[in-house]
Amino acid sequence: MANVVVVGAQWGDEGKGKIVDWLSERADVIARFQGGHNAGHTLVIDGKVYKLHALPSGVVRGGKLSVIGNGVVLDPWHLMNEIKTVREQGVDISPETLMIAENTPLILPIHGELDRAREEAASKGTKIGTTGRGIGPCYEDKVGRRAIRVADLADKATLEARVDRALQHHDPLRKGLGIEAVDRDGLVAQLKDIAKEILPFAAPVWKVLNEKRKSGKRILFEGAQGALLDIDFGTYPFVTSSNVIAGQAATGVGIGPNSIDFVLGIVKAYTTRVGEGPFPTELEDADGQRLGERGHEFGTTTGRKRRCGWFDAALLRQTCATSGVSGIALTKLDVLDGFETLKICVGYELDGERLDYLPFAADQQTRCTPIYEEIPGWSESTEGARSWADLPANAIKYVRRVEELIDCPVALVSTSPEREDTILVTDPFAD
Ligand code: GDP
Ligand code: IMO
Ligand code: MG
Repeated sequence: MANVVVVGAQWGDEGKGKIVDWLSERADVIARFQGGHNAGHTLVIDGKVYKLHALPSGVVRGGKLSVIGNGVVLDPWHLMNEIKTVREQGVDISPETLMIAENTPLILPIHGELDRAREEAASKGTKIGTTGRGIGPCYEDKVGRRAIRVADLADKATLEARVDRALQHHDPLRKGLGIEAVDRDGLVAQLKDIAKEILPFAAPVWKVLNEKRKSGKRILFEGAQGALLDIDFGTYPFVTSSNVIAGQAATGVGIGPNSIDFVLGIVKAYTTRVGEGPFPTELEDADGQRLGERGHEFGTTTGRKRRCGWFDAALLRQTCATSGVSGIALTKLDVLDGFETLKICVGYELDGERLDYLPFAADQQTRCTPIYEEIPGWSESTEGARSWADLPANAIKYVRRVEELIDCPVALVSTSPEREDTILVTDPFAD
C-alpha cells in the first residue's frame, strides 16, 4: 500500500513517535497533519533518546522528506529551538528535508499567554489541563479568520495588516483577563526576525505531496494526540482543539481521502490520560501506580504524571470506527509483565442498563461504570521481544483477546521504547 495514516486511538502518548520512526524506513515522506508542540514524541534508537514536539518523527532517520502540514498550528520560535536541539544530536535538517505548508497558522506568544491565563482563571471542574502552549487560542484564530499564516511572513504590509486584525480581537480579550495590551510594534519586529529563519522551509505542501503521490512515493501521515482528544469525537470539552482522527490527514495536508490506503491506530496495552476529563477505567490504587511506574508515565511535553487505568475495549471500538482503523500497533505490552490478573473493559453500566459505547452527555460519562472481563496475566518478561515466539502464551492470549474485543487486527506489537523491539505481524505498507 502506498500511503499510511498513523493516529493515536486513546488519549495520546500511545507510542506514536516510536512507531512512526520505525515505519518511516518504508516511507519516502512523513507528514504531520494536525496539533502542534502540545505533542511530545519520544524515540529511542540504540539507547539515544530524541524528544520531538513539532517535528515529524521521521526526521531522525535521515534521507526522508518531513512535512509540517496546514492542519498543524506552528510556534515558529519553538520550532527553530527544536531544530537546533535535534541538529546538536546529529540530525540533518534543511529545506531539502523539511517543508512547512505556506498556509500553516502561526502560534504567537499571545496564544500561550491566553491559554495559560484562562486555565489559571478556571474554577475546579472547568480547567481543561491544557499543555499551556497556545494550541486552542491559535486554532480559534484560524477558524475566526484572523490567524497569521506562514505565507504572511513574506510581505511586510500583509504581515502588519494581519497583526492589526488579530490584535483587534485580542486586546479587548486580554483586558478582560487582566493581561496588558500587546506591544504591536514589538510583535511585528519579532515576526520579521523569525520570518528569515522560517521562510526557507515554506512550500506549497499540497502540490508537493500530490506530485509525490502521483510518482509512486510512499507517504506516512503522522497524527498527534489521540482520538479521545478529538474536538468532535473526544471527551468534550476535555479535548484538544483539532480533529485528531484519520479523516484529518487529508485536510491537514491537502490530499484527497482516496489517497489513504491503510490507517494504523496506535494503542497502548492499557490506558493513560494526562490532563482533566472523564476516564472510566482509571485506577487510583496500587495497580494504577504500578502501571505508572513500570510505564514511566510522565508527560514528554509538560512532565505531568499521567493517570493510568485498564484497557478499555469499548472506547477502542469507538475510535477504530471513527478513524476507520485497518490495523493497530499494540504498544507497551511489556508494562503488563508480572500482573497476576489483567482486566479489560468490555462495556459500561449506566442506570442499570448495559452500553457498548461511551455516550457524549457529560453527566452520563461520569456515571458510566466499566464492566470488566478478567484475563490471566503472565510472569515471564516480554521486554524486548521481537517475534511471536518470544512472547509467553498468556501474553499472546491477551493480544488475541484485544483483537477480538475491538474487532480490529493487530499489525504491530511493541515491547520496549527501543526502535527495533517491535513485532511485525502485517506490514501496513505491503500491497
Ligand atoms: P506518543 O506521544 O504517542 O509518541 O508517545 P510518548 O512518546 O509521549 O509516550 C510513549 C512513551 O512510551 C515514550 O517514553 C516511549 O519511549 C515509550 N514506549 C513506546 N513504546 C514502548 C513499549 O513498547 N514499551 C515501553 N516500555 N515503552 C514504550
Ligand atoms: P501526544 O502527541 C497526551 C491533552 C492535554 C489536555 C488536552 C488539551 O504526545 O500524544 P491542549 O494543550 O492540546 O489544548 O490540551 O489535550 N494533550 C495531550 N495528551 N498527549 C498529547 O500529545 C497531548 N496533546 C494534548 O493534556 O488534556
Ligand atoms: Mg506524547
